[in-house]
Amino acid sequence: MENTENLVARLCAQRDLTDEEFHALLVTDRWDAQLVEAADRVRRAHYGVDVYIRGLIEFTNYCKNNCYYCGIRRDNRNAVRYRLTQAQILACCAEGYALGFRTFVLQGGEDPYFTDDRLCAIVAAIRKNHPDCAITLSVGERTHESYQRLFDAGADRYLLRHETADFTHYGRLHPAELSAENRQRCLFDLKAIGYQVGSGFMVGSPYQTTENLIADLRFLQKLQPDMIGIGPYITHAETPFAGQKSGSLELTLRLVSILRLMFPYALIPATTALGTIHPEGREMGLKAGANVVMPNLSPTDVRKLYALYENKICTGEEAAQCIGCLSRRVENAGYRVVTARGDVKKA
Ligand code: 5AD
Ligand code: FES
Repeated sequence: MENTENLVARLCAQRDLTDEEFHALLVTDRWDAQLVEAADRVRRAHYGVDVYIRGLIEFTNYCKNNCYYCGIRRDNRNAVRYRLTQAQILACCAEGYALGFRTFVLQGGEDPYFTDDRLCAIVAAIRKNHPDCAITLSVGERTHESYQRLFDAGADRYLLRHETADFTHYGRLHPAELSAENRQRCLFDLKAIGYQVGSGFMVGSPYQTTENLIADLRFLQKLQPDMIGIGPYITHAETPFAGQKSGSLELTLRLVSILRLMFPYALIPATTALGTIHPEGREMGLKAGANVVMPNLSPTDVRKLYALYENKICTGEEAAQCIGCLSRRVENAGYRVVTARGDVKKA
């Protein structure tokens, strides 16, 4: 490999590297300081010090799937299940609106109760109550027709992590009824319909190799998403992966910086998982190039129940406390929370 000293400079200039060069960047901490410095420069050039806030409403933890890593998988009989009513969801949005949120993210397991009719009714009601807000859905794999109906009802954005781009690795994280192929089909359907699309992956998931991570970067280059969410894999005792190691803070931050340099315009959250593996994980994520945070707007009594992984933060606070806490954290990191829809700034 020629010119290893200029790896970061070349990633900045080209927004791309060879597989061999990405490999070199990923396996050591040698370029981390340079990566963070460059990523912060690029984020400031595109977004200044602005950090967008998204009000996260975890509206159901029922799930028909059985992903090996996830705490709300259907075979976890010890999970206490809940689903919010339409009235409860609208109340969360109204509270969020008063607190300054202009994006609501409705996230849930793949819960068959939420048929297209029910979910469209909820989306349409939020659209009617809050015409100036963005509505983001994160409800998993559905048909093209379903995505179209939800879009027509008023949804603007959709979050669906590809989880891992490598088909074999995907097969080791999910039971046979789920496929990387369908996952990726969903993402391209969502784009074709006109959603602002978010994808992403877990860092340090069981069996993940450096080659897998490079495949994730290549998949994102193909998809060209508007939003990219990554966080460390965190183990959960009531899953088949109990006892597996969690992903690392350092590698996650390194990837946040690499993603910022590859996708300067992207909306990249400092995720709750990052804040869970380290008390200042989200602040470090912001300094490494992230520009979005997602405070929890779910009712306090259900927060602990939406446990994808162990020791999740922000489960005890009221919405107002959570946004206050997070705004202070953003400011301490040197940035500023803005009250705006925060649409992607694609050149
Ligand atoms: N650790 C970290 N992230 C997880 N997710 C699911 N389970 C875990 C876990 N154990 C992530 C997945 C999913 C998103 C909502 O949460 O990437 O897409
Ligand atoms: Fe949610 Fe601190 S950010 S409680």
